[in-house]
Amino acid sequence: MTVFLNGKLLPLEQATVSVLDRGFIFGDGVYELVPVYSRVPFRLEEHLARLERSLGETKIRNPYSRAQWRAHVYGLIDAHPHQDQGVYFQVTRGVAKRDHAFPKNVDPTVFMMSNPLVNPPAEQVEKGSAAVTAQDNRWFRCDIKSISLIGNCLLRQLSAEAGGAETILFREGKLTEASASNVFIVKRGVIQSPPKNNLILPGITYDVVVELARANSMALEFLDIPEADVRAADEIWVTSSSKEVLAIVELDGKRVGDGRPGPQFRRMYQLYQEFKQKVMRAGKREAVSA
Ligand SMILES: Cc1ncc(COP(=O)(O)O)c(C=O)c1O
Repeated sequence: MTVFLNGKLLPLEQATVSVLDRGFIFGDGVYELVPVYSRVPFRLEEHLARLERSLGETKIRNPYSRAQWRAHVYGLIDAHPHQDQGVYFQVTRGVAKRDHAFPKNVDPTVFMMSNPLVNPPAEQVEKGSAAVTAQDNRWFRCDIKSISLIGNCLLRQLSAEAGGAETILFREGKLTEASASNVFIVKRGVIQSPPKNNLILPGITYDVVVELARANSMALEFLDIPEADVRAADEIWVTSSSKEVLAIVELDGKRVGDGRPGPQFRRMYQLYQEFKQKVMRAGKREAVSA
């Protein structure tokens, strides 16, 4: 497997970083995961814009221009044989003597890898998945895509142990998101989701779902969603770059709606697949030399 480390493509076994890297010591870094379909990165510009924002919010120096980021992503895709890939990249603050305060004059560490993309299998899309719920006990900057994911890992483990696909989170009695995805519900035909703020990650898939709903005149609103509304929802969906749009049909062991993926989900899933096909057919790569 070929990976990217600090400007170079090299075999995984040769890609090493110092144990003093602040990513290792403090989880002091940010990341992205871009899905690639038929070798075309999906929403690359949006992922790069979110990365730039995460770097800005954490005051980590961005080592590359937008065009350089693009070139590195394309280079990594080209180094892999799979048509569909998940390109992961992270930037940490760099290597320095352990001290919480930022080091001066340190180069950020950039690591990128690509794995075959695993979207939910057809059976899971057809039947839906189970989820559990938990209190959202993460920090108040969930809008930053930070590599410090221990909170998310602990929460995800709850559903993993219960055989579920996700852990859906409530803070002060209101829906936030899930451990690694955004959440939508359907109530009396209206698609609802929490507004973007510091309590959720601004999901790229969330934006696609919102655009598709608007373009197809599906009723949609953003609002604070009480826990009781989630438990009484007709449909629950989770969205992420790897899960795409997935129906949750069982929550804490109770049926959601009639226990099957609902009509709004089926429509949105179809629209999402059609949109993906359109992007792939266009097959456009942005100019690398901007
Ligand atoms: C906490 C959290 N929320 C939402 C998402 C969905 O984001 P995206 O649609 O950009 O993959 C993710 C994806 O990793 C996530 O980790």
